Amino acid sequence: MLAAAMGLADCRIIELPRITDPRGNLTFIEAHRHVPFEIERVYYLYDVPGGETRGGHAHRRLEQLIIAMSGAFDVVLDDGYEQQVFPLNRSYYGLYVPTMVWRELVNFSSGSVCTVLASRPYEEEDYYRDHDEFVAAVRARDGMPGPAAP
Ligand code: TYD
Repeated sequence: MLAAAMGLADCRIIELPRITDPRGNLTFIEAHRHVPFEIERVYYLYDVPGGETRGGHAHRRLEQLIIAMSGAFDVVLDDGYEQQVFPLNRSYYGLYVPTMVWRELVNFSSGSVCTVLASRPYEEEDYYRDHDEFVAAVRARDGMPGPAAP
């Protein structure tokens, strides 16, 4: 089922509409127009100390759109084979993260706000919180030998 596997190639920046105005800019998100999944939950990270790291997990079934609503941070994505860094620093960019992609959110600027649109409710059993376990699951999915033992 390699064809259906989700990976870095499926991760992308979605540019959200922007109504620029000297009184302040406006961005909107319409569920069925701008987001490639049904939005089931919204959460946000705030009061993150500068330089702090969040994330450090992957999801079996959850898809997300990650937005730097204010400030800036970097999202490091890893599909079990390779990594890519997406710097987020605009309120009108959303980073789409499909299932089975490990994410670390790093280098938060102080005062930044990270808003996440999510396709499912919070389910702890949906998380991979151990990176080795995640990589092993990706390789098993793809019929590849597991990572070499240290
Ligand atoms: P976690 O997803 O690990 O945070 P992050 O990836 O942003 O660093 O969640 C941290 C804690 O918050 C964990 O105990 C679960 C809880 N939590 C909820 O109860 N509901 C939610 O929607 C989220 C995202 C987390």
